[in-house]
Amino acid sequence: MSIRFKISILIALAGFLSGFIFSAWMMHEVIHEYTESVDHDLKMFSEEAERAFFEDSPDEISKYDSNKYWMEIYESGKDTPVFRTELAKRLTIAKRSSGHWNESVKVDGKAPYARQSRDGTSFFHMRMKELSHNGITYVVYTGAPVEYMRGELIELTAGLAGGLVLALLLYFGGSYFLAGVILKPVREINDRTKNITEKHLHMRLPFREKGGENDEFNELAKTLNGLFDRLENAFKRQKRLIADVSHELKTPLSVMRLAADGLQRKFDASGADIPEEDLRRLSDQVMRMDRLVKDILNLSALELTGSVSTEQVDVKSIIEVLAEDYRIIAEDRGISVNCMLSAGLTVKGDGSKLTRAISNILDNAVKYSDEGGVVQVSGRRGDGSVVIEVTNGGCVIPEQDTEKVFEEFFRVEQSRASGYGGAGLGLAIVKRTVELHGGIVTLENSDEKRTVVKIILPSA
Ligand SMILES: Nc1ncnc2c1ncn2[C@@H]1O[C@H](COP(=O)(O)OP(=O)(O)OP(=O)(O)O)[C@@H](O)[C@H]1O
Ligand SMILES: [Mg+2]
Repeated sequence: MSIRFKISILIALAGFLSGFIFSAWMMHEVIHEYTESVDHDLKMFSEEAERAFFEDSPDEISKYDSNKYWMEIYESGKDTPVFRTELAKRLTIAKRSSGHWNESVKVDGKAPYARQSRDGTSFFHMRMKELSHNGITYVVYTGAPVEYMRGELIELTAGLAGGLVLALLLYFGGSYFLAGVILKPVREINDRTKNITEKHLHMRLPFREKGGENDEFNELAKTLNGLFDRLENAFKRQKRLIADVSHELKTPLSVMRLAADGLQRKFDASGADIPEEDLRRLSDQVMRMDRLVKDILNLSALELTGSVSTEQVDVKSIIEVLAEDYRIIAEDRGISVNCMLSAGLTVKGDGSKLTRAISNILDNAVKYSDEGGVVQVSGRRGDGSVVIEVTNGGCVIPEQDTEKVFEEFFRVEQSRASGYGGAGLGLAIVKRTVELHGGIVTLENSDEKRTVVKIILPSA
C-alpha cells in the first residue's frame, strides 16, 4: 500500500473519529436539553396538579391536560392511589424511589398521546416527590411521554451518520489529493535517484540552497547528495587504485618480458639443450599478463575520463589501416577480411581511442571466425551518424549473453574453453570508448547466424 494511500486513510479515519465524537457529544447535549425541558414541563404540571388536588378539587386536574400527563398520588406506605389521571388509569408505569428518570412502557393498541415505536413501546419521563398536607405524607408520581422525541432523534442520528460517511469520503478524497501534493518531492527524488547509476554518479538531486523553505524533503535531497558525493569519491578512489596497481605492474612485466626474450636468445645462441617448452610458456604468460595489464590500464583510464578531445577523426582510414593489419593475421587461417566503406566517415573525438576500439572489434571478428571464413567490415553514413558494422561467422552467441559481452571479464563459455587467450576486456573498452564519443554499440546475431557488432557514432 502506498504511503499516499496510508496517509489518506489515517487522515480520513482521524476526521471520521473526531466527527463521530462531536456528533455523539451533540446528541448527548440534545437529549439532555430535551429531557431537561420535559422535566421542567412535568415539574410545572406537577405543581399545578398538586395545588388543584390539595386546594381545589381533583376534578380540576383534568383541565391540566390529564390525558397527556400521567399522575398518581399515594398516601405514604399505601398501595392504592388516592388520585390518578385518565392516562394513569390506562397505563401502568413502573415506579422508582428516586427524583426523575425515563421509563419504557408497552402500550396495547394505539396510544392517543404520543408516537410509539413499532412494537408499541412508548417512553415516559417520570418524576417522584414526597410532600405533606394536613399532617399526611403523600408520594406523587408524574410522567409525560417523550416518545415523539425518539423519531426526531432517529432522524438526527441518520442525518449525522450520513454526514459522517460523506465527511469520511471527502476527508479521504481531500487528503489523497493533499498527500499527493505533499509527497511530490519524494516522487521526484525517487525518479531522479533511479537515474543515478554507476555511470551517472556525478548527477545530483535538485535542492534549494538558500532562501525559500528548507523543509524535510530539501534536507533529504541534501543528505542524499552528500551520500552520492561520498560514493562517487569512493568509486573514483577504487578506479584510481586499479589504474595505479596496473601501472605499477607494467614496469616489472616489461622487465620480465625482456628477460624471457633474452634468455630465449641466449639458449638459442648457445645451442644448449634448451628447456624450450618452459621458456615458451614463460614468455606466453608474461605476454598475456602484459596485455591484461595494458587493457586494465586502458579501461580504467577510460573510466576516469569524463570527456574526449574533439579532433576530426577519419574513421574510414582507421578501418582501412586496421583491416590491412588484420588481413595478415587472418590469412594464416584462410580468413578473408572484406571492407565496404563509404566516403566521408568522419567523427569528432579521440583518434587513438577509436583506433583501439575498432581494433578490438576486428580482433574478435578474426579470432572467433571459422577457418576459411569471411569477415565483413562496412562503414556508411546514417542520419547524422556514422554506422560501422563488423560481421563474422563462427560462434553463435546465446541471446542472453549479447549484452553481457560488454561487461568486464565476461567471455562466452565456448571461447573461454577454446583458449583464445583473451581476458574479456576488449568489448568493455569498446563500449566505454563509444559511449565517451556519444555513440552506441550493440552485438547481435544475424539471420544467417553471423555475429554482427554495430557502432553508431555521431558524425562530425
Ligand atoms: N565477433 C565475435 N564473434 C563471436 N563471439 C564474440 C565476438 N566478439 C565477442 N565475442 C564473444 O564475447 C566475448 C567478450 O569479448 P571481448 O572482446 O570482451 O573479450 P575477449 O575477446 O574474450 O578477450 P580480449 O578482447 O580481452 O582479448 C568473447 O569472449 C567472445 O565469446
Ligand atoms: Mg576481444
